[in-house]
Amino acid sequence: MPGIIVVGSQWGDEGKGKATDQMGDRVDFCVRYSGGNNAGHTLVVDGEKYAMHLLPSGILSPNSTPVIGNGVVIDLGVLFHEIDVLTGRGVDCSNLKVSSNAHIITSYHRTMDKVTERFAGKRKIGTTGRGIGPTYSDKINRMGIRVQDLFDEEHLRQKVEAALDQKNQILVKIYNRRHIEADEIVEELLAHGERLRPMVVDTVRLLNDGLDEGKIVLFEGAQAHHLDVDHGTYPYVTSSNPTAGGACTGTGVGPTRIDRVIGIAKAYTTRVGEGPFPTELHDETGEKLRTDGGEFGVTTGRPRRCGWFDALVVEAAATANAFTDVFLTKLDILSGWDRIPVCVAYDVNGTRHDRLPMSQQEFAEATPIYEELDGWHEDISGCREFDDLPVKAQDYVKRLEELIGTRISGIGVGPGREQTVMVHDLID
Ligand code: IMP
Repeated sequence: MPGIIVVGSQWGDEGKGKATDQMGDRVDFCVRYSGGNNAGHTLVVDGEKYAMHLLPSGILSPNSTPVIGNGVVIDLGVLFHEIDVLTGRGVDCSNLKVSSNAHIITSYHRTMDKVTERFAGKRKIGTTGRGIGPTYSDKINRMGIRVQDLFDEEHLRQKVEAALDQKNQILVKIYNRRHIEADEIVEELLAHGERLRPMVVDTVRLLNDGLDEGKIVLFEGAQAHHLDVDHGTYPYVTSSNPTAGGACTGTGVGPTRIDRVIGIAKAYTTRVGEGPFPTELHDETGEKLRTDGGEFGVTTGRPRRCGWFDALVVEAAATANAFTDVFLTKLDILSGWDRIPVCVAYDVNGTRHDRLPMSQQEFAEATPIYEELDGWHEDISGCREFDDLPVKAQDYVKRLEELIGTRISGIGVGPGREQTVMVHDLID
């Protein structure tokens, strides 16, 4: 089973890092393929908590080579800070490999992100403000700065000047912001480039050669299906393709080399930022889920919007990504409810939908139709086998499995690496 993709099946923050980390020691390469430091993974290993934004989770597994693929956008200041913090805590980051085709987030991208959001007022997307959208826009507009551009000063200066010719017009004339000088950007990028240079390799070749040798490559998704610029709740999405196809374009590994696609689903639903969310709870129930689940963003600290599990949302992700398995996270957070509603259909202006409606407008107007399942009161954080779970918790998992149409192979029952119930191996 050499090629395995991990994809979020809701709106991000499903606990993808935990599922990735489960496989960590057996994986030869752990690759980020999309997004940037808008992502946030929290991992708890031996009681130690690690919050990472850009580094692949595999960095914590000494046997795995961490790789940042071409589909990622990199804020080098953030990357080096993360490396320094982890190194200070005894984690070896010296094996990190970075694609020469990955694009760089600069200060003008961060500025553009913030001013466009502020200017949009009520129409804002609720971005993380990390410059992600503007960097991907420049990539598509063919005016981005890539890792390989950092090693030739003259070439880099020309590219930065060309980008700033346009950005400064917008910043100064539309947003009334200060003019940005090319020199300050170029200097910073050159210094960063020097430090980055030893990590830069042909990651396409590296990964494909690894697969040829039977090595296990884990493609670690950031964000999630419903934040995908093509498949998500557009325009309330991120600017990349976190879906399974993005793993191929974001690394240069072809689809025939992928054997498994693991969808990560939280046992309830959360979302940060703006955009439709049919099962969102605006009352004390939502507040309880937020408090019990510690639902505050790893990246921005924003409180996450919370609601019950929406089977239509996860089923749509399972279909479009061809999930072979689902890893269900945070089941322990649901302990203590007498009844647990699960959304099994929508009512859209009097019409029942058993699948995600085709249009965004219908999705925005959807009212959830719930099926109420029996809850359980036992603490399940010590369970390690499926049969250890209370019967009602087992029934909850089995019902979700039916609704999603994909087997649930792993279940998270607590933040620790060991707090997991494995039903089917994620690799073999
Ligand atoms: P951007 O990716 O910063 O442009 O933000 C676009 C949308 O995606 C916003 O609603 C963000 O809150 C959301 N988003 C981006 N990254 C993540 C993530 O890692 N988890 C959850 N939501 C995210």
